[in-house]
Amino acid sequence: MKELKIETTLQVYEDLDEVPNEVQQLMNEAINARNNAYSPYSKFNVGAAILLDNGETVSGSNQENASYPSGLCAERTAIYYAGAKYPKAKMLKMALTASSQNQVTSKPIPPCGACRQAIAEYEVKQNLPIEIYFMGAEGKVVKSNSLANLLPLIFESSVL
Ligand code: THU
Repeated sequence: MKELKIETTLQVYEDLDEVPNEVQQLMNEAINARNNAYSPYSKFNVGAAILLDNGETVSGSNQENASYPSGLCAERTAIYYAGAKYPKAKMLKMALTASSQNQVTSKPIPPCGACRQAIAEYEVKQNLPIEIYFMGAEGKVVKSNSLANLLPLIFESSVL
């Protein structure tokens, strides 16, 4: 038996002012998207914005449903929209922000497991890492240089 140790490295910025300008702009798009969330059940608003290599930005927010599992997270709303609208473009950066309607969300909110799997699919497809930045409504911004840092041992198509 051998032990397998998995390490990951993330960068933590003190606040949005500290991140590069281009990312600030992308995060502002995510904040705008977050304000369009449809979240009457959870009261938790999430916004995602994706910068593509063709210069376009695609954004999305969580969309809930009275039949709870039929709703969709912001990350997948945005990434499937990007894949559907610009199938040839590569995704360079993704900005995520989340805000509860019940309390101030000041800790960085990472994408859920299902969204990590969805993002992984596109990272493998395009053979280029996607930089992921995530935050709450305020406070620290965490950067991951690749989805792979957030989801070690990914399940991907080469095994099929
Ligand atoms: N949500 C997202 O949009 N992204 C995540 O990564 C985690 C959760 C949404 C789904 C649901 O509408 C609400 O947040 C509460 O779970």
